[in-house]
Amino acid sequence: MSNKTFKNAKDAKYDEYYTQYYDIEREIEAYLDYNPNIFRGKTVLLPCDDPEWSNFTRYFAQNFEMLGLKKLISTSYALESKKYKGGYQLSFLETNSPQFDKNKTNTHGKIFVLTGDSSGDGRVDLDDLQWDYLEEDGDFNSEEVTKLRDEADIIVTNPPFSLYREFFAWIMKANKQFILVANKNCATYKEIFPLIKDNKIWVGVQPMGVDMLFDVPKERAAYLVENEKEGSKYRIVDNVVKARSTSCWFTNIEHGRRHEPLQLMTMEDNIRFNRHKDWDEKHSYCHVDNFDALEVPFVDAIPSDYEGKMTVPVTFLDKYCPEQFEILGITKTWFGSAVKTYPKQTQVNKNGTRSTVTKLNDGGAIIVKEPPHDEIYYIVNDTYYVQTYPRIIIRKKQ
Ligand SMILES: C[S@@+](CC[C@H](N)C(=O)[O-])C[C@H]1O[C@@H](n2cnc3c(N)ncnc32)[C@H](O)[C@@H]1O
Repeated sequence: MSNKTFKNAKDAKYDEYYTQYYDIEREIEAYLDYNPNIFRGKTVLLPCDDPEWSNFTRYFAQNFEMLGLKKLISTSYALESKKYKGGYQLSFLETNSPQFDKNKTNTHGKIFVLTGDSSGDGRVDLDDLQWDYLEEDGDFNSEEVTKLRDEADIIVTNPPFSLYREFFAWIMKANKQFILVANKNCATYKEIFPLIKDNKIWVGVQPMGVDMLFDVPKERAAYLVENEKEGSKYRIVDNVVKARSTSCWFTNIEHGRRHEPLQLMTMEDNIRFNRHKDWDEKHSYCHVDNFDALEVPFVDAIPSDYEGKMTVPVTFLDKYCPEQFEILGITKTWFGSAVKTYPKQTQVNKNGTRSTVTKLNDGGAIIVKEPPHDEIYYIVNDTYYVQTYPRIIIRKKQ
């Protein structure tokens, strides 16, 4: 592998992660279970795709009739514009086609459209896709693709990880329905969390705690195997290297799981019967000093008998039933739900090194009696604090 290819393949913001058919099928079927007509008569746009080999295009083309689609549009991004060009191959569909243009192939995006049985074989499928070059490179933000966005009813894709904020803003501007793959951390972004809080968007059906695996070009696969730990950044399935990413789906389309209330136990029963090996007596059900809330370290430990504010892990969004809970905020400074802010703090690392910081304000702070030996802690005016992970602030609905 050349140095340049290697450097590209190791970029943390690597965008060439391709969604597996199985993940798409499982997610879409859950929306259909809730409303079998959700796609009927609709135009679906799949931007940021590579329609020749994308599983999104494959799924929606093959199921065009079952879904009752009116029109399927899929667009790709020009090779020259992609940040990572390795592994890209011209498809036979393009090179064997009369409209193949060697002057456009690398610099123009492509559009694939499906409206019905154009091949005349009596069924609608991938063979009926009509394609052409776009005028521009297929950037989702281009005027051309933005027009397609405006024409569509539902937008489905796995957008480039590096441009998630921009992509999200682009989609929200059009006020369309969508189903998107994204990193779980996106839920805590200031552009996205307020929409989750206001029930304008929510997490899809696939649980946040279940791995999503992606196909990757071979140089990324080689980079992962050489440099990363199996099980952490990649897995090998049937001898194929699949990239692992902490991803889930975000949507504004209804599905049944979000209306299933969580089964809860009392605080006392949780303390007695919880099965968490790392149940931490020091911090569980402690008072979070700067958010005036109860710290609940596991989603399945949310107590049935607590009526006040609670701070819970972000994976709560997986189980969030808006009829059961309300989301009040997030333990992030930008959200502004803290009831107090601390002056500059002394941070003491596990090895005893000290520094002056302000980051205790960007998370939940728990007062501890003694300086802990096994975790980072903070000192403010002779009081010792530890900080919780980013948490969502919730309250049970009456
Ligand atoms: C995470 S991949 C997903 C591809 C495909 N949707 C799938 O899931 O199999 C995102 C794709 O978006 C492309 N991309 C990057 N920047 C883009 C942009 N500004 N506009 C459109 N596509 C872009 C990348 O080259 C990459 O192929």
